[in-house]
Amino acid sequence: MTPLNYDDLRRLAKRRLPKIAFDFIEGGLDDEIGIDRNRQGIERHRIVPRYMVDVSKRTQTTELFGRTYAQPVGIAPTGGAALFRPGADLMLAAAARKANVPFIMSGASTDTIENLARVAPDHGWYQMYSAKDKSISLDMIRRSKDAGLSTLVITVDVPVHSNRERNKRNGFSRPLRMPLKTKMEALLHPGWMMDYYSNGGGTPMLSNWAPYAGPGAEKDPERVATFQSTQTTPPLDWTDIEKFRAAWPRKLVIKGIMHPGDAERAHKIGVDGLMVSNHGGRQLDRAPSPIEVLPAIRDAVGDKMTLMFDSGIRRGSDVVTAMCLGAKYCFVGRMTLYGVAAGGEAMAGTALNILKNEVDLVMGNMGAPDIKSLGPDFLMWDDQADLRRNTRP
Ligand SMILES: Cc1cc2nc3c(=O)[nH]c(=O)nc-3n(C[C@H](O)[C@H](O)[C@H](O)COP(=O)(O)O)c2cc1C
Repeated sequence: MTPLNYDDLRRLAKRRLPKIAFDFIEGGLDDEIGIDRNRQGIERHRIVPRYMVDVSKRTQTTELFGRTYAQPVGIAPTGGAALFRPGADLMLAAAARKANVPFIMSGASTDTIENLARVAPDHGWYQMYSAKDKSISLDMIRRSKDAGLSTLVITVDVPVHSNRERNKRNGFSRPLRMPLKTKMEALLHPGWMMDYYSNGGGTPMLSNWAPYAGPGAEKDPERVATFQSTQTTPPLDWTDIEKFRAAWPRKLVIKGIMHPGDAERAHKIGVDGLMVSNHGGRQLDRAPSPIEVLPAIRDAVGDKMTLMFDSGIRRGSDVVTAMCLGAKYCFVGRMTLYGVAAGGEAMAGTALNILKNEVDLVMGNMGAPDIKSLGPDFLMWDDQADLRRNTRP
């Protein structure tokens, strides 16, 4: 099947992955209402077209932190990617480089900052989970700097682990102990099984953390994973962000900000950008969808900081909606992860290309020839009053 959209990519990934791995990507927490709310929050917005606009030449090139990217959506950080396909982190990085979009390597990645800089020197960012032992965090910052990365992202929305019941049911635990029924189901996915066991099986190595987990840890992925997990919860306060700001001379982004008050505080500390995100509905089930809080955050700091958006993007029209509401850039987590799980680097590239084509057609049909034409006056939500309030002359 040639995937045409997000659902196709999801289906292909579901076919190749055992339930334990697929559920880890798709799942949220508690009742998983946050995932639905992320969709509803976006879908509530309708895009009101304007006609007699010259859309014969359209461009979606987007400026972000002084660089020009080919489209307004890049790849969000996703941990443990090698579980879905060995080498997936660098495949995603390579797909991003080819598509000319940013790729954010996860703080729970299965490859290293140094390899990221080799594969995608101009497109790779590093997302750091702060460690209890701040010398570890400062060393990761040093490594990112030495590797020449342009942008450091600090994720703040995992103060403690969340209640992911799918993972519990599947036995996705630490150490990884699959119950018999999970193992039997995995037998139905021989392609994945062969990859998994030819790479030794077990927990994938969180390579960036291995140097800090004690002697011999580089041969013991389970020990490294346990170390990472206990080091990162509970994590950080504002003084830590100040320290990281002082240690990192390039662009600094906080990922997971949902409150305008936190946005203002980050601005005062000198943070350059925010990713308005609820971690794809994986941490707090009753959190609002980020699209609901984006306008308030834009009003608070939008003219002073670079706002980015993720959580719930499935279509190009979702990207356009977030950009109309003040995002300067968007990211996807699951969509490219399904792509890489289903078909490696090429399919991750397909995911980005699907979004690019969709964004292009939406922009054409709404009467927006370029990214700078997007704004709230294209949107209508609760009732027609929005339209009257927003209509441009
Ligand atoms: C399997 C998986 C692993 C993730 N791991 C991380 C991570 O290590 N760090 C992080 O900041 N966010 C992580 N996220 C959240 C994503 O960066 C992103 O915020 C989210 O996936 C966006 O929502 P979407 O999947 O609906 O696009 C992860 C998401 C998924 C699905």
